[in-house]
Amino acid sequence: MQQKIKKIINKKNKSKIVSLTAYSKNIATILDDFCDIILVGDSLGSVLYNYKSTREVSLDIMIEHSKSVRMGIKKSLMVVDMPHNTYRNSKEALKNAKKIMSKTKCDAVKLEGGKKISQTVRTLVRNNIPVMGHLGLLPQSDQNFKFKGKKISEKNKILKDAKLLETAGAFSIVLECVETLLAKIVTKKIDIPTIGIGSSNNCDGQILVFDDLIGLNPIDVRFVKKYSNIRKVMTKAVSNYSKDVRKKVFPKKKHSYN
Ligand code: KIV
Repeated sequence: MQQKIKKIINKKNKSKIVSLTAYSKNIATILDDFCDIILVGDSLGSVLYNYKSTREVSLDIMIEHSKSVRMGIKKSLMVVDMPHNTYRNSKEALKNAKKIMSKTKCDAVKLEGGKKISQTVRTLVRNNIPVMGHLGLLPQSDQNFKFKGKKISEKNKILKDAKLLETAGAFSIVLECVETLLAKIVTKKIDIPTIGIGSSNNCDGQILVFDDLIGLNPIDVRFVKKYSNIRKVMTKAVSNYSKDVRKKVFPKKKHSYN
């Protein structure tokens, strides 16, 4: 097992795992100093491309963004989402995961689902491809985007799926919008770290979409804390630039060549 992966697993019950998404190099360089894991999430489909769902994200788009992110990471573990319809069976998953790993030089891939993909996870891990799981709300397949784990049947399924993913060799599991107590139980019952998004502080770590955290992506959901209003800062800069050009005060001599 890669040293970097071991380091993440060893954080369980010791220190919280910090994780964010990045879709490009410049952002990744900022995150790298503060994160344990940087995820190139297929959330880029809605955040950057305005797709109706992450189902429209292609393998090529994920690879191009990941190549950019790779250039900005020195120390964090880099994980890349496998897009919808790229892991419908073990053979397809292995072919596409190998392509992602070789073209992007990432450290691991992330797949959504439990029992249905556990054999696929086993195949990838046996082929030295580290896998992060993803349970709870599954944007690639769920129709309704409500939090999970209220119903007993849902609770039992998520817990069972978490154990299956662990047995299959996943090194960690993202829990998206999982009910607080269930997140606590899952985190306690497995030996690999859980990384929560909208799943309370009962998880071993947290992940957010970076564009949400800085207030660039105009969404308003309960589980996102906005640490900045970067839209305001950017708007001011563009407005100042526009005024300067129109008033002919930019560019000055010092910005010109002679
Ligand atoms: O696609 C994504 O950004 C994700 C995170 C929200 C966990 O899967």
